[in-house]
Order: sequence, then structure tokens, then C-alpha cells
Amino acid sequence: MNAAVTSSHPVGPPLWLLFELTYRCPLQCVFCYNPIDFAKVENELTTEEWLRVLREARALGSVQLGLSGGEPLVRDDVEEIAAEAHRLGYYTNLITSGVGLSRERLTELKRVGLDHIQLSFQDSTREMNDFLSHTKTFELKKRCADWIKSQGYPMVVNCVIHRLNIDHLDTIIDMAVRMGADYLELANTQYYSWAHLNREHLLPSREQLQKAEQTMLAWRERMKGKMKIFFVVPDYYEQRPKKCVNGWGTTLATIAPDGTALPCHTARMLPGLSFPNVREQGMKEIWFQSEAFNKFRGFGWMKEPCASCEEREKDFGGCRCQAYLLAHDSAAADPVCSKSPQHHVVVTALEEAQRPRVPEAPLIFRRRENSTRLS
Ligand code: FES
Repeated sequence: MNAAVTSSHPVGPPLWLLFELTYRCPLQCVFCYNPIDFAKVENELTTEEWLRVLREARALGSVQLGLSGGEPLVRDDVEEIAAEAHRLGYYTNLITSGVGLSRERLTELKRVGLDHIQLSFQDSTREMNDFLSHTKTFELKKRCADWIKSQGYPMVVNCVIHRLNIDHLDTIIDMAVRMGADYLELANTQYYSWAHLNREHLLPSREQLQKAEQTMLAWRERMKGKMKIFFVVPDYYEQRPKKCVNGWGTTLATIAPDGTALPCHTARMLPGLSFPNVREQGMKEIWFQSEAFNKFRGFGWMKEPCASCEEREKDFGGCRCQAYLLAHDSAAADPVCSKSPQHHVVVTALEEAQRPRVPEAPLIFRRRENSTRLS
């Protein structure tokens, strides 16, 4: 067997494959996790190239495919990719803002076997939804929700939560109930990429968060058996880091629009790592042999306090991208962890978030010209 072995853990297959089909997106969300320098990424994979990667990954053992972006529906081959994925036996999930969806496309996606659609909203009010995404998309999203439901898909609504909309949680949940959502994911912002740039605007106060949690728990009780509500807590408020991407190189392979293969969505910003490209290497070689996928596998790369921590198997030292963003060292303990020597960075950000204030710096929208300027 060709599998690399890290510590005592043999490397399994990339069970979850994420295709970021494009970084093009009509929305300009201030919390987008796409790379700041997305404008530099050109030369998207062709349909044939995506299909080849699908087959290679399936042969390795991948079982679940996410189709995201940018906005994946700006490409006109989503149907073709979903069809091939279905034929190969993947469980397929489309992650969309709804822009680019039509009744006709939805009918075709259903016909070719797409399993699941996740529709994002920015808020329950038209004003905030359209402001945060810098587009007039609120009404369109509501129409998309109706179409998705009428095709018999489970209705999965996602809303990214932060300081500017967390006080609307009650009406956000109410909106999801009215739309007939089966699942509602309230994902507190994780501070990478554009959200990291805008963190001062987006990080909620503890009081806001506690109130939101109570609201969510009351709704969860009320909607028991009718709608599932997931609430992802912002990790800055935790004492231990998350097991990011279920452990580097254990489960997830992300393919960026230009074919760069990444162990997580934001890894391409990490310095000193060169990432393989599916145009040059096969998925098997990339997954098992590449330096990038092996770099933070297992425990051998860890420094103290992670190296001797009895919880290291639980969280793998947390998130490598967050360690780089906050401690400027991608091999450090994730500063979210209270044992991290850099934990004070998170504490300071939280102290700031408790003060009522309007940040001096303006919000930065995920726009092409901002990407070019900031790259
Ligand atoms: Fe990159 Fe967590 S987001 S390792």
C-alpha cells in the first residue's frame, strides 16, 4: 500500500473532496473565506480537468463532493460535474448564494442526481443582507428557497453570524422557519481572509453571544423534530481550539479554481509551502506524497506545548492557518488555546470586542479591486 504513515496513524483516503470551482462571485461579502489575493488566480480548470480529478479521487476512496466557490453557478458546467459525480457514486452538495440559479437549472441538477443544496443568507432583513453582500439579492434568495423546496430537496439554510447581525438571530431563525427550512446552520464567523481583515467590525461581544445562544436554544426546543438548528460557536470564545478540517491531510482535499490542491480552504496563504496542482500531478501522488499534505499530518511537526499535550489527539494543535495569522508561525499552537504562549492575542481581541464602538477603519468588501490592492 502506498499510504504514508504519520506517527501511529495510517493515512486514509480524502473522504471529503471540495471543488472551489471558481473565485468569481457576484457577491462581495465582508466575511468571505476566499483568499485576499483571489484576483491573481486565473486560468480555471476546464470541465474535463474537473471530471478527471473527480475520477481520480473516487478511485482513492473519496465519497463526498462539495461544489463551492466563489459562486459555483457562474460556471455553466456545474450540471455536468454533478452528473458525473453522481454516476461515480459521490454524495454531492452544492453550496450557493442562489445567484445564477433558475427553475430550469434546478430541474436539471435534480435530474442529474445532485443530492443536497445549501443556500446562504446574510441576514433576515433586506437592508443588512444586501449591505453585507453589497448586492440586491435578498428577494432572489427567497425565490430560490421556494424553488429548492418545490424540487423536493431538503431545505438547508446557512447564515454566517457576526457582530452586525447576531442581534437579529430571533428573526433569522423565524425567517428560516417561514421558508420551511429543514436545517439551519448558524455559523459564527471564523476569522480568516476577509473576515480577518474585518474582524474589528465582526467579532461579537460576549453579551451578544450569550443572548444569541439563549435565543437559539429556545427555538431549538420549540422546533424539535421539525427543523434542526446548528450553532457554530466562534472559536475565539473557546478555551481549546477546534480540530480544524478534522486534522490536516486526514479527510479533506480542497481543489482551488486553478487546480491547486489544498489541505484546507485557506492554506495557500501559508508561507514556505508549495502546493501541488492537479494539472501536474495525480490525486494519489498529491494526497500521499506531496510535501504540503504531509507537512502537518500527525504529531511529528508539533512544538511545545502541543508536543507533550495530553489533548493533542483531540484537536491536533488546532488550526494551522489561525496559528499563522495570529502567532505568525504555522507550526505554533493555535492561539485560541489557553495553553498557547500567544493566547494573549486572542484575549486582547476579545477585550476590544466588549467595548461598544465603531471601528475607525471602514469595512472592506471582497471586491476585485480590493483584492488587487491588498495582494
Ligand atoms: Fe487552514 Fe484551519 S483553516 S488549517
